[in-house]
Amino acid sequence: MLVEKNVPLQPFNTFHIVAKAQTLVRIASEQDLLNVLADPLLAAMPKFVLGGGSNIVLTGDVKPLVLKVEIAGRRLLHSTERHHIVEAGAGEGWHGFVAWTLERGYAGLENMALIPGTVGASPVQNVGAYGVELQDRFDSLDAMDMQTGAVFTLNAAQCAFGYRDSVFKHASSGTHIPANTGHQAVGLKNRALILRVRFALPKQWKPVLGYADIEKKMAADGVSEPTAQQIFDWVCAIRRAKLPDPDVIGNAGSFFKNPTVSTEQCADIIARDPKVVHYRLADGSVKLAAGWLIDSCGWRGKSVGQAGVYEKQALVLVNRGVGSNGQGATGGEVMTLARAIQTSVYERFGILLEPEPAVL
Ligand code: EPU
Repeated sequence: MLVEKNVPLQPFNTFHIVAKAQTLVRIASEQDLLNVLADPLLAAMPKFVLGGGSNIVLTGDVKPLVLKVEIAGRRLLHSTERHHIVEAGAGEGWHGFVAWTLERGYAGLENMALIPGTVGASPVQNVGAYGVELQDRFDSLDAMDMQTGAVFTLNAAQCAFGYRDSVFKHASSGTHIPANTGHQAVGLKNRALILRVRFALPKQWKPVLGYADIEKKMAADGVSEPTAQQIFDWVCAIRRAKLPDPDVIGNAGSFFKNPTVSTEQCADIIARDPKVVHYRLADGSVKLAAGWLIDSCGWRGKSVGQAGVYEKQALVLVNRGVGSNGQGATGGEVMTLARAIQTSVYERFGILLEPEPAVL
C-alpha cells in the first residue's frame, strides 16, 4: 500500500483550487481499502472519500485521510424481463460510462450526459439533468463500511434519494449499519465508501423530453422521435453552450440547489417579481430557479478576487484564475462570494440558498 504525503489536489478538484492532501491513499479495489483499515494509524484517522472532485470546495489543506477512489470496470451483469442491469466501478468517469452504455445499445442515461464526476459519486447527490435523476435508473450499489470493513448492498429505498440528496450526505447517527435488512440505512456520510453501482436500463426505452432546451433542439433538427444517441448529442451541445468546461474554467456545476417554497410564499414572490422562473411540483409546492434569483440580484459576471459568477449561468461559480497565474481562486474567495450571494438573495426574496458542494 502506497501512502502518499502532501499530495497536490489541484488536478483532483474541478474548481482547480490549490490545496494539498496531507495523506492520500488510492483505492483501486476492495483489498486496498481493507489494507487501509488493517493499518492502525490509517484506520484511526477521519476519512474523506474523493471521487472526481466535481462537487467540493477546498478551503485549505485536507487533514483527514483522503481515499481517492479509482475502482474500474464496466459490464452488463444480466438482463431481466424489463431491464438491462449494468454495473460500473465507483472510479469510472460518469460521462464515459454513459457513452459506453449507449455504444452498447443500453439507453436510459442519455439525459445525464456530460455531468462531471465519477460513477461512485453519482448516487451521493442523486445527480440529475433534463428530467432524469439517477434514482430513476438506479438498481443497487455495493459499499464498504469504513469502520468494520464489511461490504453491504443498498437498494434505492435504502439510499433515501431526494433532490440532490441521499443517505450518503447525512452524518451517521448509529454505530451499526443495518445492511440488507430492508430498513433504511442510517446516515452514511464519511462512513461508507461506494465500491460499485448498478443501473437498471429499460429495454422498452422511451425518450424523456419536455425540457425547453431539448424541445428547441428537436424543432431545429426537425426530429419528432429522437433516438437516445440524438438526445445524448443534444444534451452535450446544450451543456457545452451554457456551462463552463471544468477542464478550461474551474467550477463545480450548479453551486446552489433550486429552492422549494410553498404556494403562498411563491405567490408573494410573484406579486413582487412577476417574472420569477418557477415550476409547480406534484405535492403542491413550487421549485424556484436559483439561477434566476441570483441573476436578478445582479450577480451574473461579478467576482470576489478570482472567484466569479459565470457569465452565461448565474448558478455556476467559477475559478477565474486558472491558466493566468496558476494559483487561481482560493476556497475562501469562493465561499465569500457564495455567502454574499446568499445574503442578497435572502434580503430580496427571503430565501436562503443551500450550497450543493461539500465545503472542506
Ligand atoms: N436562469 C436565469 N439566469 C441565469 C441562469 C438561469 O434567468 O443566470 C433561468 C433560465 O433562463 C431558466 C431557469 O433559470 O429559465 C433554469 O435554468 P436552467 O435551465 O439552466 O437550469 P437550472 O435550474 O439552473 C438545473 C440543474 C442542473 C441541470 C439543469 C438541467 C440544479 C441545482 N441544477 O439547473 O444541474 O443541468 O437543471 O436539468 O438542480 C448541477 O447540478 O450541477 C447541474 C448543472
